[in-house]
Amino acid sequence: MADSCSPVIPRHVAIIMDGNGRWAAARGLPRAIGHREGTKAVRRTIEAAIEQGVQYLTLFAFSSENWQRPPEEVTDLTGLLRYYLRNELNELHENGVRLVVIGERDRFGPNLAAELAQAEVRTAGNTKLTLVMALSYGGRADIVEAARRALAAGLSPDAMSEAKFASLLSTDGIPDPDLLIRTSGEERISNFLLWQTAYAELYFTDVLWPDFETADFTKALAEFARRERRFGARPE
Ligand code: IPE
Ligand code: IPE
Ligand code: MG
Repeated sequence: MADSCSPVIPRHVAIIMDGNGRWAAARGLPRAIGHREGTKAVRRTIEAAIEQGVQYLTLFAFSSENWQRPPEEVTDLTGLLRYYLRNELNELHENGVRLVVIGERDRFGPNLAAELAQAEVRTAGNTKLTLVMALSYGGRADIVEAARRALAAGLSPDAMSEAKFASLLSTDGIPDPDLLIRTSGEERISNFLLWQTAYAELYFTDVLWPDFETADFTKALAEFARRERRFGARPE
């Protein structure tokens, strides 16, 4: 809830949800259990985002590089995604969440890709929160794909601009993230939203993703509210 001095709430929060494997390893459990536990943190974070008035939440769930993991882990993650979608979609829809998927969804196979598309269509009219799921997503691939679209459309060099290029990315219509959170102590972008995070405030926490609580989300928002965003201009 906003207090008397009304903190600045980021319109768009993007999260690199990292540390599921280490969370499981620390308990002597298989990595798959860490991923499963991570879905509970996803649920908590979506609820917290709605509660705080965040309008866009982007979750990095599977990178274009994650295909390099052992096939068993890829299967576990894909299975979990399918399970999550089937179990959570009704509630997401009831809570006014619009689902948008970015990334190469076709790589998950035609069935899951179709389920994702159906979920997007079903929730398209919702306005409480836009939940962007980055699945088989890579920032460089996104940029290359945008360049391909421009070339395929025969766009003249003069017609290209930053706004035009942004409209060719998978995030067309979604404002740039204001706050980028990464859990688990790693401090890198790992090929996430390269173009879109040009001026995002970066927030790193040692908390492993399955341990990420509502209070950790609120703490990140409080830190964001203290930041001075200059965008290259001189402060007042
Ligand atoms: C994040 O947890 C989930 C995905 C990348 C899919 P990790 O699986 O990367 O967990 P760590 O980094 O090995 O602890
Ligand atoms: C980034 O985490 C991708 C996701 C959270 C989906 P990784 O664990 O794959 O990143 P690296 O390999 O440590 O950079
Ligand atoms: Mg990791």
